[in-house]
Amino acid sequence: MQGLIPAAGGGTRLGPFTNAIPKELLPVGDKAVIEHVVEAMRLAGITDIVIVVSPHKHGLSDYLGSGRRFGVNLTYVVQDERKGLADAVLSGEHAIDGSFVVVLGDNFFRPKEFLKELISYHLNERADATLGVAEVGDVTRHGIIKPEGDRIAEIIEKPSIEEAPSILGSIGAYVFERFIFDAIRETKPGYNGELQLTDSVKVAIGLGRRVLYKKIDGIHIDVGTPADLMMANKWYMNNEGHR
Ligand code: G1P
Repeated sequence: MQGLIPAAGGGTRLGPFTNAIPKELLPVGDKAVIEHVVEAMRLAGITDIVIVVSPHKHGLSDYLGSGRRFGVNLTYVVQDERKGLADAVLSGEHAIDGSFVVVLGDNFFRPKEFLKELISYHLNERADATLGVAEVGDVTRHGIIKPEGDRIAEIIEKPSIEEAPSILGSIGAYVFERFIFDAIRETKPGYNGELQLTDSVKVAIGLGRRVLYKKIDGIHIDVGTPADLMMANKWYMNNEGHR
């Protein structure tokens, strides 16, 4: 299994810091946000990781390098234009051989073992795609699923409170089989005019694929705003700050 970390987004809500520094390099405790993601992947046994970067963003490869420092091998691929998360994942197609796990590079998770759990579930269940989900406080900031048994029957990117089929939201961690690249190619622009990974998952459901969800307990902070960054650091200082 390989890993893919999308890290090409603009980070406008974290400006002006992100004029100079990719949001994925902002620190949570003594490590960059993305470094925590790399660490979780290594802990799940994933050492071959593809990082999707933007040509407009500099510094990620300066910071992460070859990955040797973290015990992994990093490959960088470029998403030419910011067309959405699904397109970012598609940019990595040529570097992916088989099953792979996607974790957004600007999200902070604890416990670190969350990914191991998600991957084991996907493999044991022989799923085509498995999404990590949790009960979310704000449905309008997530891809929200309609669960049906162990499957996802429907998924909506950032619905209104009225439209939301549940309060179970994608936490930005996914396991996919390679067919997802075909589903992405069939995806039309959606929320915000972008190619949303949520909509590619919907295409996969429409094609009758086995698309499952796994509830992940623990901390999940999408570090999108200064308040999120502070929340992640507050959690870190209270729980791991002594290290
Ligand atoms: C992305 C996904 C969304 C998911 C969220 C998790 O949104 O599009 O489905 O629930 O990450 O953090 P973004 O935070 O990039 O707007």
